[in-house]
Amino acid sequence: MFNSATVADTSRRQCLQTLGVAVATGLWSGHGAKAAAGVTTIRFSHVVAEDTPKGLAAERFRALVNERSGGRIQVQVYPRAHLYGDHDEMQALQLGAVEMLAPSLSKFGRIGFPEFELFDLPYLFPDVASVRRITQGALGQRMLERLMRQRLVGLGFMDNGFKHMSANRPLLAPEHFVGLRMRVQASRVIAAQMRALGARPVTLAFSETRRALAARVVDGTENPISNFWTQRMHEVQTDFSLTQHAYLGYAVVANQRFWSSLGRSDRELVATALQEALQFGNQVADLQNDKALKALREAGTTRIHQPDEGQLSRMRAAVAPVHSELAQRIGPQWLTDARAVLAA
Ligand code: SIN
Repeated sequence: MFNSATVADTSRRQCLQTLGVAVATGLWSGHGAKAAAGVTTIRFSHVVAEDTPKGLAAERFRALVNERSGGRIQVQVYPRAHLYGDHDEMQALQLGAVEMLAPSLSKFGRIGFPEFELFDLPYLFPDVASVRRITQGALGQRMLERLMRQRLVGLGFMDNGFKHMSANRPLLAPEHFVGLRMRVQASRVIAAQMRALGARPVTLAFSETRRALAARVVDGTENPISNFWTQRMHEVQTDFSLTQHAYLGYAVVANQRFWSSLGRSDRELVATALQEALQFGNQVADLQNDKALKALREAGTTRIHQPDEGQLSRMRAAVAPVHSELAQRIGPQWLTDARAVLAA
């Protein structure tokens, strides 16, 4: 099973390499997906399930665009990494093999935007409202605009929520992590956080995580509850600890050539529909996570633990050095600006 994902990833990678050659040699023009009948197709790929905050927002976006354009612009949503996954989705977007993505903010560092990893800093944000003061303000806008350097158009942010820890044992204090292999996203901040807790970070694609947990390739991971539940990780993890240690959110990005190929009114239609869909996603994010927690309790497969104040303060103390260790990578000015927004 584990290998079949790798085989699928390899063949997708080969496909992208071929596409890359075609683009480089001018054999393929890339953008959009403008079909003969005058229908513009927007392929929107993401890695999570349909009934997560991101999955629901993507579906709302699809419905709004299709309806408001009278079917002239068709959004096709590809969930669960069916089209592209963590390994190849950014490359697919840049080559024009998809038009839109909504990667987690943690996945922008490795393509040259380490400032996005500030959202991964453990215990930086007390709640989602504080995150929004950055994502919905001038600082967030500045972050989105910089994506243009990689031919990506940053269209907006969306929340999932706060992450918690899972494994086959409770993870309530730093000593519980010692020696564990913990799956992480490709973020240096998250890797440093796991090391600070005494665990070994293992970077894996989201779509490979459940299989890796089941095969004991890794011992545990971190997730908002909606991702944990919809990936059925509760079937392969006996303990879920409500550490609420860091935030997970998304940025929606479009291929720049595709975006500029749209006429002004279509661009407005798509951008407006997306803003509405993101607002909707933000509204349902808490609800989806609450529903997933309830479902997890009812399933009875996984013990749910609440750290006490003493355990939480030891967790905070253990990961505190990550803030200064990673400041240079994130960019000290970005951190100063983020802290100023949070303190204001
Ligand atoms: C996602 O929510 O898009 C996936 C996050 C992860 O890779 O853990």
